[in-house]
Amino acid sequence: MTSNATGDTADVARDSTALTRESQAIWNAKAAFWDERMGEEGNAFQRLLVGPATERLLTLRQGEVVLDVACGNGVMARRLAALGAHVIGCDFSEVFVERARARTPVELRERIEYMVADATDEGQLLALGEGRFDAVVCNMAFMDMATIEPLLRAARRILTPAGRFVFCVTHPCFNNPAHRKLATEEDRAGQIVVTYSIQVPAYLRPTVEKGGGMPGEPAPHYYFHRSLSALLAACFRAGFVLDGLEEPSFVETITSDLALNWGHYPDIPPVLAGRLRRSEP
Ligand SMILES: C[S@@+](CC[C@H](N)C(=O)[O-])C[C@H]1O[C@@H](n2cnc3c(N)ncnc32)[C@H](O)[C@@H]1O
Repeated sequence: MTSNATGDTADVARDSTALTRESQAIWNAKAAFWDERMGEEGNAFQRLLVGPATERLLTLRQGEVVLDVACGNGVMARRLAALGAHVIGCDFSEVFVERARARTPVELRERIEYMVADATDEGQLLALGEGRFDAVVCNMAFMDMATIEPLLRAARRILTPAGRFVFCVTHPCFNNPAHRKLATEEDRAGQIVVTYSIQVPAYLRPTVEKGGGMPGEPAPHYYFHRSLSALLAACFRAGFVLDGLEEPSFVETITSDLALNWGHYPDIPPVLAGRLRRSEP
């Protein structure tokens, strides 16, 4: 299944709404599995790539008000609250929101509020309050959303004028739904050399297809692939400029159920992290 040429399904409202409802059911069905796998501090992606890149790009100040969109089990929300922020975490999965609440320790409860909200519904996000947030974070979720335009438009309005929007996504160039991980073995004058590489047979064309998120999970979920230019064009159309970009990779071995896990590819980033700021006026 493919979406329109802009890389967003926003103008195919029927598709977008139906896909979002189906996505919501899928995420609810596997939220408990994900929560257990992610645990308190998250998996290797969260601990080594997503979390640190988000913190560097956010440069959080004490007492700032942050919206964590698609918060999952609240791993980033808890971390930001522990760093001194007041956090609202929202997710369209009721099960994830319950899990996030249950994982929040007493000492952080005054600083974190969770709610069920669909990030493809601009009105639900605007209802949180225009000009209320110093920052919006959305980690590893743009590619799970049928449309990101409503979130971006709402984010511009709920942010303060100096607010920033930090996002992390699976890297659209190297870790997109079409990528293949390769390992080749060769004999170089008696020396066995193993080379790990990524093959990317498709990139530019926006696609919608199901794929796995974690080994052993109950069911695959939808991925809405957008090229880098399509992703950033949506941000620019909503009135943002990009002023920070990171491409974190694993520089250490990681434990994984996958033989060809990302720990073998230290020179190829599986994650792209960006910081947006409101363009003027
Ligand atoms: C890969 S998980 C990432 C969770 C969390 N941000 C993290 O980094 O651990 C994707 C999350 O996006 C949420 N999600 C997907 N589409 C959404 C939508 N339209 N509105 C709100 N949440 C959504 C899912 O329920 C899930 O929690």
